[in-house]
Amino acid sequence: MADWIVAVVPAAGRGVRMGAGVPKQFLTLGGVPLLVHSLQTFEAAHIISEIILVVPQDDCQYCREDIVPSYGLKKVSQVIAGGPRRQDSVLNGVQAANSATDIVVVHDAVRPFVTLKMITQVVEATRNHGAAIVAMPMRDTVKRVNGEGIIKETLNREELWLAQTPQAFRRDVLLRAHQQGEADGVDATDDAFLVERLGLTVAIVQGSSDNIKVTRPEDLHMGEAILTSKTPETCS
Ligand code: C5P
Repeated sequence: MADWIVAVVPAAGRGVRMGAGVPKQFLTLGGVPLLVHSLQTFEAAHIISEIILVVPQDDCQYCREDIVPSYGLKKVSQVIAGGPRRQDSVLNGVQAANSATDIVVVHDAVRPFVTLKMITQVVEATRNHGAAIVAMPMRDTVKRVNGEGIIKETLNREELWLAQTPQAFRRDVLLRAHQQGEADGVDATDDAFLVERLGLTVAIVQGSSDNIKVTRPEDLHMGEAILTSKTPETCS
């Protein structure tokens, strides 16, 4: 039987850095709400069985009754409320997934340029390693700097990668990692960190510099530029 693969899409941030009246995931990019771009890619990915969308409590109804039907997002099986931190929102999503789920793919709703290839490759690497993330090698030289603005160290660029999403995990691994993180009071900015700290392997799949996270107003302008330069992918 084919693996049951669930996408958990955290979209429950408040978007304070964007400075707009609505959370950034609902701002439009190319005339479509930002979160719809990545949801449509997961919808089109044949290996994705189901999508769990995690949004602010106040937006659950809007997403269920407007966004999901308006954009024909048939794989969205649940729209659930997030928590105060991203990691709380992801945990809500993972717990909402059926326990028979084999692999969970976590993807930030504010990364609209995820591709079918990234989804396929990160899932394939997870089948082999138990966990895998999309990331990009560092092009710049990175310095560790102290509180006085003085360089303490230059890091070896060959070993440095910038983590993106999607990040995929065997469901049992991700659940255990989140529960242990909770128990230990850890704040994690991505899910892979919670798995790494259990001493488990997390593989890397090369992402794309287009796979930006829309966090600040200028990112929306960059997003519009990327959108106009994109050619459609074929389904996988
Ligand atoms: O800005 P940040 O890196 O925290 O956001 C990454 C993703 O996590 C966004 O899609 C955002 O909506 C989501 N998030 C969430 N719940 C939170 C905070 C962020 O689902 N409490």
